[in-house]
Amino acid sequence: MTRPNPAAAPEEVPVADIATGALIDHILVCYHEAHRRDLPELILLAEKVARVHAGNPALPQGLAELLRETAGLLEMHMKKEELILFPAMRRAPSALVAQPIRVMREEHDDHGEQIRRLETMTDGFTPPPGACRSWTALYRGLGHFVTELEDHIHLENNVLFPRFETPAHA
Ligand SMILES: [Fe+2]
Ligand SMILES: [Fe+2]
Repeated sequence: MTRPNPAAAPEEVPVADIATGALIDHILVCYHEAHRRDLPELILLAEKVARVHAGNPALPQGLAELLRETAGLLEMHMKKEELILFPAMRRAPSALVAQPIRVMREEHDDHGEQIRRLETMTDGFTPPPGACRSWTALYRGLGHFVTELEDHIHLENNVLFPRFETPAHA
């Protein structure tokens, strides 16, 4: 898995001080692009592990399907942000976007539920004893994806969205 591009958000600048347009650019490059790059690889790997280890009782049943479902939900969600919410935020610092933000927060809760299902299914991304390289790489990649998704949601819920929810920006 590729780490987010640090050039998009210089580390010396606290994230709270990044201007809204640059913060949105950072989210798009470091998270939206990263999820779109990582999830198809993880789905392929999950399918390979399921094929090679069919019949192994430690194999999580339905992991590739759950990942496909997660990718579909995430894609629809990111499209809404990219086509509706983020352009409105870029256009006006006082954009009236309370309703779309509410919807995005609800969808973030749904993503949290998907994360919990992934964690439960994989025993917290812990490969079974003697797991092969692919199985180990799959769980390492899943752990990385989940960490990035949680960081992504945190940035939107706790840094970006509040800029449009406070009375000063209403
Ligand atoms: Fe996002
Ligand atoms: Fe989001």
